[in-house]
Amino acid sequence: MPSSLAETVSQLRCINCGSISSAAGRNFRCASCGELLEFVFPEWKYDPESLKSVWLNRRMSLGKGPCHQLDPSRLDQSGVWRFRELLPQIPAEHAITMAEGNTPLYHLQRCARAVGVENLFAKHQGMNPTASFKDTGMTLAASAAHQQGFRWVACASTGNTSASMAAYAARGNLRSLVLIPEGKISWGKLSQSLDYGALTCQLRTDFDGCVRILNELVQCKPVCLLNSVNPYRIEGQKTAAIELLEQLNWEAPDHIIVPGGNLGNSSAIGKALFEMHELRLISRLPKLSIIQAEGANPFYRSVHEFGGKKLEPMSAETLATAIRIGNPASWKKALRVLRVTGGQVEQVSEVEIAEAKAEIGADGVGCEPASAVTLAGLKKLRTSGFVNPGEIVILVLTGHLLKDPDFTIKFHRGDLFGETTGERFDKQAKSLQRAPIVLDADLDAVIGALDAAERNS
Ligand code: F0G
Repeated sequence: MPSSLAETVSQLRCINCGSISSAAGRNFRCASCGELLEFVFPEWKYDPESLKSVWLNRRMSLGKGPCHQLDPSRLDQSGVWRFRELLPQIPAEHAITMAEGNTPLYHLQRCARAVGVENLFAKHQGMNPTASFKDTGMTLAASAAHQQGFRWVACASTGNTSASMAAYAARGNLRSLVLIPEGKISWGKLSQSLDYGALTCQLRTDFDGCVRILNELVQCKPVCLLNSVNPYRIEGQKTAAIELLEQLNWEAPDHIIVPGGNLGNSSAIGKALFEMHELRLISRLPKLSIIQAEGANPFYRSVHEFGGKKLEPMSAETLATAIRIGNPASWKKALRVLRVTGGQVEQVSEVEIAEAKAEIGADGVGCEPASAVTLAGLKKLRTSGFVNPGEIVILVLTGHLLKDPDFTIKFHRGDLFGETTGERFDKQAKSLQRAPIVLDADLDAVIGALDAAERNS
């Protein structure tokens, strides 16, 4: 059994004018037209069966030893680097890896019943080393920064990119600069970037304001930008879809549903689907649908109001702070994915997000608020008839439940929305709320609570 196939040759191509760049500028935009770049692989000639067996072989080597910097098998322990034939090449000595990827695919039994789709699964990207999907892209982008000799890496973030970047920078002996909107990210995420040693700046602006400053900074300081406009991020994030298809024994599902913020993740998963289809690893394309929060819906409006011809930036507002983004960088890439796969873009309300999050939690899986838009969106896609009961549906859960415990506790205590919430929320939410009960340290009191819970179940 070969342990690796041919060397990968990659090029950076502009998504708009098609110019090939030999190297990306500091802002990762096309020097001719200013649009985003993407990796293309002109020399791919892989036999799909050989790819599958090489990847499987590497997966079987999991756990052969400690994940040590000098251990050559550490790349095979990663659910990203294991698929390196489909990634731009980075020499192993620059690889910063934490055995990322390798995330589970859970059957969501209760949610499946509630939504009326039997085959409903969650690809839980919150089970990555820093508890969000960002790690799969960060391992590659941080390694590329290491290879290029950068001392500093930087990002603007709603909290997960920064947590991930800070961890990978620390592992690779790089310094990291985090720009986050003041007061608008969860404590869980902020605490990660502090503990991993980032220089953390809370700017008095929103995410889009942080991006503006960062773009200016990288033009005048030698720092490597690690937001998802960096095409290495997209390449790494592709592997979530490759791993998913491997878990499904290379049978394409009917639908994949992802949250939409800056739209890097939907672009990455879509790119992986196109490439797997081109390489005959899968025989048909799943429909990829993107869900946004109503208060942060510039892409939804672009598609529904302007036919995808333009995107009007907006001032975004949602309690799902991870996707509180008004000017998504990768919207043109995501639009292409939507069009080619035949997916839809939906929007969901704050109440719908909160309920969906509790429902995913009640299945014993849990996720952060931004991830729950997927289930809320699926309900709408079921109602409209876009998703049928017999179809196989995958929700991509992007972040772990513990990323934002404040949201969860407020929901269960019933004070997430204050006085302003309507009747429907009260009724539906009541059955999902599990507020903690404060009791005396008394056996009878606990037995009373247990009996009452049994009577109500
Ligand atoms: N879900 C979570 C948990 C996120 O953190 C993000 C983005 C998204 C979904 C949306 O993904 O931007 O690729 O469309 N978080 C970024 C950050 C912006 O800075 O952590 P996207």
